[in-house]
Amino acid sequence: MQHAPHTTAVVGLQWGDEGKGKIVDVLTAGHDVIVRYNGGANAGHTVVVGDQRYALHLIPSGILYPDKSCVIGNGVVVDPEKLIQEMEGLEARGIKVGTNLVISDRAHVVMPYHKEQDAALEEYLSGVTAGERGNLSIGTTRRGIGPAYADKVHRSTAIRMGDLLDADYLASRLQVICRLRTEELKALGVQAPPLDPAALTARYAALGERLRPHVRDTVYHLHDCQRSGKSLLFEGANACLLDIDHGTYPYVTSSNCSTAGIHSGTGIPGRSLQRVIGIMKAYSTRVGAGPFPTELLDQTGSTIRERGREYGTTTGRPRRCGWLDLVAVRYSAMVCGATEIACTLFDVLTGFDELRICTHYRLADGTVTDRFIPDAKRLEGATPVYSTFKGWTEQVSDLPDRAALPQAARDYLDAVEQHVGVPVSMVSVGPERTQTLVSA
Ligand code: GDP
Ligand code: IMO
Ligand code: MG
Repeated sequence: MQHAPHTTAVVGLQWGDEGKGKIVDVLTAGHDVIVRYNGGANAGHTVVVGDQRYALHLIPSGILYPDKSCVIGNGVVVDPEKLIQEMEGLEARGIKVGTNLVISDRAHVVMPYHKEQDAALEEYLSGVTAGERGNLSIGTTRRGIGPAYADKVHRSTAIRMGDLLDADYLASRLQVICRLRTEELKALGVQAPPLDPAALTARYAALGERLRPHVRDTVYHLHDCQRSGKSLLFEGANACLLDIDHGTYPYVTSSNCSTAGIHSGTGIPGRSLQRVIGIMKAYSTRVGAGPFPTELLDQTGSTIRERGREYGTTTGRPRRCGWLDLVAVRYSAMVCGATEIACTLFDVLTGFDELRICTHYRLADGTVTDRFIPDAKRLEGATPVYSTFKGWTEQVSDLPDRAALPQAARDYLDAVEQHVGVPVSMVSVGPERTQTLVSA
């Protein structure tokens, strides 16, 4: 009997790096098509299979299964050089990347000048202070994400994947764009020769030819897949609190990383979603600048960083660490419509005498609220109100199921379910596929 097609989304409920790659890998077995809808090479999704560790940036994590199909949707910004590097890196390790990878012809292209603009703007902003708030830099990944999405919105200065397949059209656009960009980069203090439209056209038309077999209309492709009974798995990049509309603006990325981005970024309407799995790390981390109410700048924060190996998959930067913030998670679960939660890196909490969970914020005027504040300036004034939980010392990485967890660990998870109002359906207790406890 054919299984009923189902549509699932995996989305980060914090500031990224929740272990989305691992959970997507676990879920891929039960789906047919794995789809990225947002972000670009700012994402770094790690999948561990036996002694092999894969870091995926642009390609959906489902690529590791040879019989599954992977789609890079129109909402993604694609750096073709990075994508080809990633494809070749996987192929060199025996992973097939052929017709099983489909790329939207409407996905926007990250060009070299986007990366230069990203870095130059960050340098410029970090070199000038904005009064007592310090500087205005965001601590981006410098992958050209913001400038590429800005061009998408500007329209006349944008390049899409389909444009790389038409060298004449590409040349005519780059003629104008290069002139404009050279001036803009100069204004940001970049000392470089003027951008050369002919050279850039040749380079990017060649990249387009290399990717041509993969590029097509993914909106019809995905609807065709659904019609033929295939199930879709959407792989969110970045996370809800980094969403351009719903995150801690302006310390966010430039796409809708919440489930809001699925419809615009793939053409599949939100009503198709049956399961929305919010990925929640058992504590909190953040990379780059921006408010982080439960951040721990003390030894406990360092202990979490070392035990959780909290160093960026994309940039190698040490991640800021803190206690679990359920005000934030509850908000993200609400915005994303989470039907369940996967709690990841749970094993990292083993060995603490005591654990804390933030359930409310105290605001500058003394009031206490359980509502998140998706605005950096106002969130900075919030201090966490904690509930304290007993820790546990037993190793949890090799347990058969959630019921086998120590009582203190079960109490911690019960508190999450109670405060967020969404069931925890999976508990990840190690980076490997097999280290996942599913609720009975
Ligand atoms: P993503 O961006 O959300 O996919 O997350 P990252 O891959 O950037 O960061 C998560 C890190 O935690 C990776 O190194 C994973 O291999 C690792 N990881 C995922 N789940 C677990 C877990 O349950 N326990 C431990 N110890 N590590 C995990
Ligand atoms: P994954 O998918 C963690 C953060 C950056 C920076 C801000 C803006 O691996 O969870 P950008 O380069 O996007 O303009 O940077 O967003 N950021 C992430 N942090 N994980 C990510 O992705 C991130 N993607 C962007 O650190 O603070
Ligand atoms: Mg990551």
